[in-house]
Amino acid sequence: MKLAIVYGSPTPPGKLARALDLAEAAVRERHPGWSTERIAPRTSVGPVVATWDDEAVERIGAADAVVLASPVYRGSITGTLKLLIDMLPNEALRSKPTGVLTVAAAPQHFLSAERHLRDVLAWFGALTAPNSAFFVDTAFRTPDVDPAVLAELAEFTDQLVTLAESLGGRGFGPDPLTVRFSASRA
Ligand SMILES: Cc1cc2nc3c(=O)[nH]c(=O)nc-3n(C[C@H](O)[C@H](O)[C@H](O)COP(=O)(O)O)c2cc1C
Repeated sequence: MKLAIVYGSPTPPGKLARALDLAEAAVRERHPGWSTERIAPRTSVGPVVATWDDEAVERIGAADAVVLASPVYRGSITGTLKLLIDMLPNEALRSKPTGVLTVAAAPQHFLSAERHLRDVLAWFGALTAPNSAFFVDTAFRTPDVDPAVLAELAEFTDQLVTLAESLGGRGFGPDPLTVRFSASRA
């Protein structure tokens, strides 16, 4: 089974990339039946924006579970990640186990991007994982990462694996509002 890990930063590699390296390592170590795919923006368009190609959309659609990862920018997700989200059709995430992982400079911003992403994931009818992962960026400043951070990353990915395996591809109704609204206008 496949876990797609979306890297929502326009400035690789950075602290978020380090967090994702460790999350991927946790999946490799604990879930031999799973593979991970990092999905990153393709083209930089300046210091705070990068764009995606259509392949990113296809890879998310084909995954069994998804991590949406973003640094906190201005109290929210990056515009770069929102560009990708706006390219995704509803079925790419509908009923799909999806986890939120964010990093920020300020611990006070721990819910800021998460709560915005949860709203957006409701549009898709995604199966948003109950527990998100948040880290202050200094957690990844040195090669030695606190074991508590590693444990949190492992638990975070375990939850997505468990949800996807328990679900076996099952979907849920009722249709998300966008599907009902589109049908009523057809
Ligand atoms: C444009 C911009 C806006 C940011 N806004 C916030 C913010 O609102 N709150 C916060 O805690 N950190 C903010 N940060 C800090 C980043 O979230 C933090 O440095 C993070 O580690 C960046 O990810 P990266 O290291 O993977 O590039 C901002 C950084 C940038 C570049």
